[in-house]
Amino acid sequence: MARRGLTVLVVGSGGREHALVWALQRSPSVERVLVAPGNGGTAAIAENLPIPATDIPALVATARDYRVDLTVVGPEEPLARGLADAFQEAGLLVFGPTAAAARIEASKAWAKDVMRAAGVPTAHATIVTALEEALSVLDTMRFPLVIKASGLAAGKGAVVVNNRVEAERVLHWMLVERGLGPAADQVLLEEYLAGREVSFLAVTDGTTVVPLQPARDYKRLGDGDTGPNTGGMGAYAPVPEVTPELQREILERIIHPTLTELARRGITYRGVLYAGLMLTERGPAVLEFNCRFGDPETQVILPLLESSLADLLLAAARGELHSVASLRWHPGVSVTVALASGGYPGSYATGYPIEGLDALPAEVLVFHAGTRRENGRIVTAGGRVLNVTAVAPTFAAARERVYAAIEHIRFPGMTYRRDIALAEVASAIKPTVPPTTGTA
Ligand code: AMP
Ligand code: GLY
Repeated sequence: MARRGLTVLVVGSGGREHALVWALQRSPSVERVLVAPGNGGTAAIAENLPIPATDIPALVATARDYRVDLTVVGPEEPLARGLADAFQEAGLLVFGPTAAAARIEASKAWAKDVMRAAGVPTAHATIVTALEEALSVLDTMRFPLVIKASGLAAGKGAVVVNNRVEAERVLHWMLVERGLGPAADQVLLEEYLAGREVSFLAVTDGTTVVPLQPARDYKRLGDGDTGPNTGGMGAYAPVPEVTPELQREILERIIHPTLTELARRGITYRGVLYAGLMLTERGPAVLEFNCRFGDPETQVILPLLESSLADLLLAAARGELHSVASLRWHPGVSVTVALASGGYPGSYATGYPIEGLDALPAEVLVFHAGTRRENGRIVTAGGRVLNVTAVAPTFAAARERVYAAIEHIRFPGMTYRRDIALAEVASAIKPTVPPTTGTA
């Protein structure tokens, strides 16, 4: 009898998860992809199961019922709540760190302590828990500075402030009004770092590290990085500034020392370690760690990956990442633009039918971020609705494909940035990813 292919379960419902589902479906070893709960896009290429991403007992039961070989977790919240621990206790393979390891994202205060102990370059920060204490620390700091809630705050936890009045307002909101709830039990007053940001994601089993293509996302709503912060309005990969030498430096000074320090604390990190970096005049420095794939970085990284994603994640989950020699990458570049609901990141209406999805050129990929299927139609169901993505030999060509495809797509209130990857159109593209490197 022929051996059956893998059954994989993806947890989450955004554009990142659609991209994960898509890449897993392309992996030759995969037979069946389930997604909990998924969205209107994943429904077309996989099996959506109506289970919330945070219902850990139901996910464990489902993985057992469907004889799932590997569960891949998208968002941070189920990881911080112990999804991977529950799966491991049940003898189920999972790609994603345990709750102890996910603290690297869930507690910025703890992450700073790990970085300090590991000698990893990062912005200097003071941790406070009360307004009075915060105000006296302010006296010692220069503006601009960054005020950050230590806990998970769905992207709303970091605010750059330019003067004392703004700083006091934000501190009051976090520490007195408790605007972010327990996420701001601890607050970081952090030195502002100037430079260009890079998202550096590496797959690891705690020992071996396999870096992915570096990516850059666009957090602000408006062209030219204006307007409010969002969950991400677009992205591109690779990032030409990240040369092979800089990649090695990031691995040697940031990724490996962090994993070594976690191991010293008895924590084996298995999953994606995502370093949000600032490329400063003095070299790369960590702004934050995330314990998961980035959104929308995943939507540009995975279309460039020519190796099997399933085999990579399975090897990491098993602690056998050393068996993956190196990844094959498309030699070109990838660009994604988010189409958002009017009013996002503030309040917005949903339920609008999306037109034009059937008439798109074959060379674009549309990852659904906030959609659902309703009476056979795809309708809007979130702030970020679609990620229109293209791979091409150059940034100019990828941008052209994406923006030409967007002309076909319509829903009421649709908004998007026109300048994604625009700054890179003159960049020369060189291979940037070194092979799998060393051990922690
Ligand atoms: P975080 O949630 O820590 O990623 O912060 C969100 C955004 O705030 C980052 O993507 C940066 O644009 C900005 N940011 C955070 N920390 C700093 C810092 N120390 N210096 C400058 N900008 C920062
Ligand atoms: N792109 C930012 C994040 O995933 O946190």
